[in-house]
Amino acid sequence: MCGIVGVLGKHEAAPLLVEALKRLEYRGYDSAGIATVNEGKLDRRRAVGKLVNLSDLLVHNPIAGKSGIGHTRWATHGGPSVKNAHPHQAGDVAVVHNGIIENFMNLRAELNEKNINYETDTDTEAVVLLTKYFLSQGLSPTEAAKKTISRLTGAFALAFLFQGEDDLIVVARQGSPLVIGHGDGEIYVGSDAIALAHLTNKITYLNEGDFAQISRKKIQVEDKNGIIVNRKIQNINLKSAKADKAGYKHFMAKEIAEQPLTLATTLENYLHEDPCDIILPKNNLKLTQIESLTMVACGTAFYAALTAKYWFEKIARVRVEVDVASEFRYREPPILKETTAVFVSQSGETADTLAALRYMSSHNANIISIVNVIGSSIARESNLVLPLHVGAEIGVASTKAFTAQLTVLALLALKIAKAKATITENQYQKFLDELKRLPEVISQALCLEPNIQKIAGELASYNDVIFLGRGAMYPLAMEGALKLKEISYIHAEGYPSGELKHGPIALIDKKVPVVVIAPKDTLFDKSVSNMQEVMARSGKIILISCESGLELAGHGSWATITMPDVSEFTAPIIYAVPMQLLAYHTALSKGTDVDQPRNLAKSVTVE
Ligand code: F6R
Repeated sequence: MCGIVGVLGKHEAAPLLVEALKRLEYRGYDSAGIATVNEGKLDRRRAVGKLVNLSDLLVHNPIAGKSGIGHTRWATHGGPSVKNAHPHQAGDVAVVHNGIIENFMNLRAELNEKNINYETDTDTEAVVLLTKYFLSQGLSPTEAAKKTISRLTGAFALAFLFQGEDDLIVVARQGSPLVIGHGDGEIYVGSDAIALAHLTNKITYLNEGDFAQISRKKIQVEDKNGIIVNRKIQNINLKSAKADKAGYKHFMAKEIAEQPLTLATTLENYLHEDPCDIILPKNNLKLTQIESLTMVACGTAFYAALTAKYWFEKIARVRVEVDVASEFRYREPPILKETTAVFVSQSGETADTLAALRYMSSHNANIISIVNVIGSSIARESNLVLPLHVGAEIGVASTKAFTAQLTVLALLALKIAKAKATITENQYQKFLDELKRLPEVISQALCLEPNIQKIAGELASYNDVIFLGRGAMYPLAMEGALKLKEISYIHAEGYPSGELKHGPIALIDKKVPVVVIAPKDTLFDKSVSNMQEVMARSGKIILISCESGLELAGHGSWATITMPDVSEFTAPIIYAVPMQLLAYHTALSKGTDVDQPRNLAKSVTVE
């Protein structure tokens, strides 16, 4: 994972690099570091933990120089330590790296034979040691970097800085994103455009396999075949890149609270009034011919896709397969002609999802992506992009992006259903009305926070929690469990309610609270039966349903959450709110780092 930045500036580089790294902390926060060249001399500073530790270090031990590179790390090879922190340096070269060098063991063995030894546990060190070796063979810095890169396999974005070179950064991209920013007499590089938003909105996206030699006055880009190419400069609207907590204690709290507004914006971007209709961006989709969809995503986005399967199948009569991205391409699934594939990703940079997309593209599938970050790699490699329009999501635990992903997927399902006439115009309008009510009903659900906070206070003392749901509530049960484990570190599992009796029910006792998500829908009675099976075994139930559902089945529950009355269609979107609040307040009670939980990163750019 990790985020990388670089500056060839007119002023001191360190403050610019630190500010850019702040914007990349979503990619990892195990350690951070910067290196500069000052009057030809290479120097670096590195600190373990969050970026604030590097900032503190720089106050006591500043670093001069107008050229520099920086890095924020999510550890892959070697634990978080100063030794393993980037930039790595060997002799006259320093390197920052995002990705994984898969052949680092072979390179390490080869370097050992030359009596060049490793000092760190990282894969990246192979890059600096090889470059140092090629420099010692008389190659120029650019040639040495190029020759090193030709020896690497895996996924990487790299930036090289050299002793004696105040006006040179060499970069390369293969599998991990990299952009160049154009300032007034200054040039920047970064893992994404958001990292550079405080510096410029003029951005060049590098393509797969690109190699660039950058000085303040000239940028020379070569493509994967070594041919000099012209990559265009784009003006990127980065207004949404500025994010603050708006008075909330955490970004996650703010992002949960702003969902009425974000969903209103999502809907506004897709709905045309009078007559009410769903308008998709211009595309070549033959909606009437869509018989099946393959959906691929990771984590929360995967649960959004899994929820949408219920809508696509039931409402649009489209067969849907949903895959976890990391499991998809290595199975080498056969791709039928005219396949349409939907990729769901908040960041648009998730390495597994991107790799699955490329597999599908190479088999000529029609690619639809649902992303939040519009200029992301996944968006740029899609035939049709359906943006979420929810603004930057900063909290590592995805919240407002999840409800927007569900909303966009619901819109797509309805659009196809209408085109295929699997629903009548009346039904279509009724579904749209239900979607239009989302901001209002989500606001009502948010009012449940004080009660949920109380329940969370109790939940915080347990070690295991089970979430149950049936139908479209089953993916939501898994999402609820994921939210709880990632920010409160409590072990949690989501199961289909009906599956519990096939094994997991053995776990039930007084020490394992069970959250039952049971809106009053067609499966309510069955959910209640499954809940009774848990109660009969002394299970502690937290029942989430509407008032009438709780009247019928709430008796004997340990706690209840009274949801507004909602339609079966929009229930998964609205019932996401108590999942989010329960996880948030449990984490608050436990005092964990809600926005940046341990071991995680917002954007997972390694396989
Ligand atoms: C959980 C969470 C992750 C992401 C997953 C995919 O709260 O945020 O599970 O959903 O890493 O990320 P994107 O959507 O950026 O592809």
